[in-house]
Amino acid sequence: MIFDVISLFPEMFEAITQHGITGRALQNNIYYLQLWNPRDFTTDNHKTVDDRPYGGGPGMVMLAEPLEKAIIASKARQKEILKDSLDFVDTKVIHLSPTGKPLTHEIVMELSKQKNLILLATRYEGVDQRLLNSLVDEEYSIGDYVLSGGELPAMALMDAVIRQLPGALGDKDSAVEDSFVDGLLDCPHYTRPEIFTNTTGQELKVPAILMSGNHAKIKQWRLQQSLLLTRAKRPDLLAVRSLTKEEARLLADFDLEGSGFPKN
Ligand SMILES: C[S@@+](CC[C@H](N)C(=O)[O-])C[C@H]1O[C@@H](n2cnc3c(N)ncnc32)[C@H](O)[C@@H]1O
Repeated sequence: MIFDVISLFPEMFEAITQHGITGRALQNNIYYLQLWNPRDFTTDNHKTVDDRPYGGGPGMVMLAEPLEKAIIASKARQKEILKDSLDFVDTKVIHLSPTGKPLTHEIVMELSKQKNLILLATRYEGVDQRLLNSLVDEEYSIGDYVLSGGELPAMALMDAVIRQLPGALGDKDSAVEDSFVDGLLDCPHYTRPEIFTNTTGQELKVPAILMSGNHAKIKQWRLQQSLLLTRAKRPDLLAVRSLTKEEARLLADFDLEGSGFPKN
C-alpha cells in the first residue's frame, strides 16, 4: 500500500517508520511512505504557508495554494507508480481534522483495502475551506479533543491500517482478537508469574480458569470477560450489536453468579 503524507513536519513520521510493527512493515515493503512538505511548494522567499483569517479572529489559516500543489504532485507520483495496475482508481485524499467523522475500526478496515492514500496533516487554526471543498474526499477525527497538528492523527490512522495489511503482524500478533473486531472490547490478559506479589505485599493470582488447560472453557471465559468489559465500559458498542444465544447466556450466568469481573 502507498501512503503519501503532506505535512509541515515530515520528520515526525520517524515515530512510525523507525519503530515496532510499522517500522518492520516498511522494511518489508508492506507499505511505502512518501512525505511532502507544503513549504516546498511556495513561491516566496519566506516559504509562507499560512495567513490571517478573513473576518478576523485568532490564529492563522493554511493557504490553499501550497497544499493544492503538494496534493497534485503526490497524486501524479502515485499515478506514475500504479500506472500498470489494472484496478488503479484515483487516489483518496483524507484530511485529519477534529471536524471529521470519527475514525472507527470499520473505516480502518475499508481503508486497508485501498492501494494508495494521500493524508493531509495540517496545522494552525485550520485550512482554507476552498482547498478542502475542492480536493479532499474525506475528513476523519481521532477523537473529541483538539491536538496541535494532524501528524499524530495521520500516524494513528496509518498504524491502524498497516496492522491490517497482510504480513504486517507475525502469526502470534494476529489482530483478529483485538478490541472492536467483532464489536466487543478485548478480554483481560495475564502472564507470569502465577502469583504476583505487589509492593504492598498483596498476592495477586491469575484467574484459575486460565491455568486449567481446558481450552473450550478458557475461550468461553474470555468471551464472557469481553462481554462484561464492553457492557461496563462501552455500552454504546453493545447497543448496536446483537448478542448470540451463547453470549446472552454468558452475561446472564455472570449476573446470577456475579464473580470474577476485573475491577478496572
Ligand atoms: C489546532 S488544530 C485545529 C483545530 C480547529 N480550529 C478546530 O477547532 O476544529 C490543527 C490541526 O490538528 C489536526 N487535529 C487536531 N485535532 C485532531 C483530531 N481530534 N483528529 C484529527 N485531526 C486533528 C487537524 O489536522 C487540524 O487542522
